[in-house]
Amino acid sequence: MAKRPEWLDSAVFYEIYPQSFKDTDGDGIGNINGITEKLPYIKELGCTAIWMNPCFDSPFGDAGYDVSDYCKVAPRYGTNDDLVHLFDEAHRLGMHVLLDLVPGHTSWEHPWFKESMKAERNEYTDRYVWTDSIWERPEGYGSLRGISERDGSCAVNFFTHQPALNYGWYKPSRPWQQAMDSEGATATREAMKDVMRFWLSRGCDGFRVDMAGSLVKNDEDGKGTIALWQNVRAFLDEEFPEAAMVSEWGEPRQSLAGGFHMDFLLHFGESHYNDLFRCGKPFFGGKGDASAFVAKYIDSYERSQRRGLICIPSGNHDMDRLARHIKGDARKLAFAFLLSMPGAPYIYYGDEIGMNYVEGLRSVEGGYGRTGSRSPMQWDSSANAGFSSAPAEKLYIPIDPDPARPTAKAQMKDADSLRSEVKKLIGVRQAHKALQSLGEIEFVCDGAPGKPLAYIRSSGDERILVIVNPTDNTADITVNGTPGETVYSFGGAPVISGNSVRINGGSAAFVKI
Ligand code: BGC
Repeated sequence: MAKRPEWLDSAVFYEIYPQSFKDTDGDGIGNINGITEKLPYIKELGCTAIWMNPCFDSPFGDAGYDVSDYCKVAPRYGTNDDLVHLFDEAHRLGMHVLLDLVPGHTSWEHPWFKESMKAERNEYTDRYVWTDSIWERPEGYGSLRGISERDGSCAVNFFTHQPALNYGWYKPSRPWQQAMDSEGATATREAMKDVMRFWLSRGCDGFRVDMAGSLVKNDEDGKGTIALWQNVRAFLDEEFPEAAMVSEWGEPRQSLAGGFHMDFLLHFGESHYNDLFRCGKPFFGGKGDASAFVAKYIDSYERSQRRGLICIPSGNHDMDRLARHIKGDARKLAFAFLLSMPGAPYIYYGDEIGMNYVEGLRSVEGGYGRTGSRSPMQWDSSANAGFSSAPAEKLYIPIDPDPARPTAKAQMKDADSLRSEVKKLIGVRQAHKALQSLGEIEFVCDGAPGKPLAYIRSSGDERILVIVNPTDNTADITVNGTPGETVYSFGGAPVISGNSVRINGGSAAFVKI
């Protein structure tokens, strides 16, 4: 099993999209010093760690997921020294920082790619996935063709401007498909280790790894990619055993075998995450069905040896804001769930105050439909919601124009606000090991239509029954054990009789058993 940093087990993360968090130099775009300035706000909420979206040099065709220099902070965000200062300040406050590692592709403006496009062989010829003729495309992948002197098509991973780095093919079947242990694929892997080494040795605490499961090509059941990450794991165990690794993979069975500490539950594929928060009838809207999510969750849990390391985010920069689909106090119930599940919870900046999806925006930096979830943080009721002193028309993305938009300042003063509830829930999680990352989970009720979600979290002798009931119905949950102290409730105190607990519709309770 991977060596692991202890802080990860009780971590509650806050995800920051650097463009939109806090601008301290008045250019209309957030920066690293803005994040540093706001660390006390994040700590006050109770979060212990942050994940920052990519902040490296980039032409920003995909908001920075198109890197052109992995070892240089993009000037618009500041300098490498500013980032090191952020690490230092976070550590001084007892917090940790994960950077976003994008190992699968670069920008087509990366110097590696420019070299790789040349007809003459050079050090970077095999850095990307190329066919050996412009007329042959890499089957199963998009491709870049006709833009280089080199005769070949280059596979792309996401947008057209993001050529795929070469980690080899699981089972090469064409002459141009390189093996995983070929010189080119090995050099790419080692180059990515150098990037990790660069930031880890400067104080970064680990990485959220973008599209971590897609590096080796034609690797249907992930065996090649798992082996690749095991190789990286050996390097980390040797040089940086304290580094935390969290994957965007969506298959904990595979990612944990590859040596990641935790994996994200994804909002696409078969996770049924959207059944809970983002669909026509989301479970937390009160009328939905969580049972398919629970079935898939249990399946992943069992297949990863009951290791509760699946991180469930409140949202992220790729999906609709939670508040677009879940209204009013139902958001508090959504957080009661998010903050009582195994794995580390991730709060997307602004979700703690119920920031809205801003409708009708023009796409910014490859955001398209994602742009509305990336609007500036709303700090207070001053100009630009306290985000920036730039003229409103110079902001990276416009502020939510709703005059009733929530702000952090107002919610911090209001004991009944969403933010106050989120803060309370984080405090309850931090006070009970059973509710934290490694505590076990056993479902008691699967949130089928009209029913609550109920599960028992346990660690050592501590057992806590969690019931989250966004439906209109009163719910009775019977357990094997004696319900005792209520450690958290919202929407009315639970009524305990014998071995059963009754809670109202629209409420949540955590009860020791
Ligand atoms: C990131 C996206 C990005 C894509 C390509 C994703 O998983 O979260 O924002 O566009 O990877 O790098």
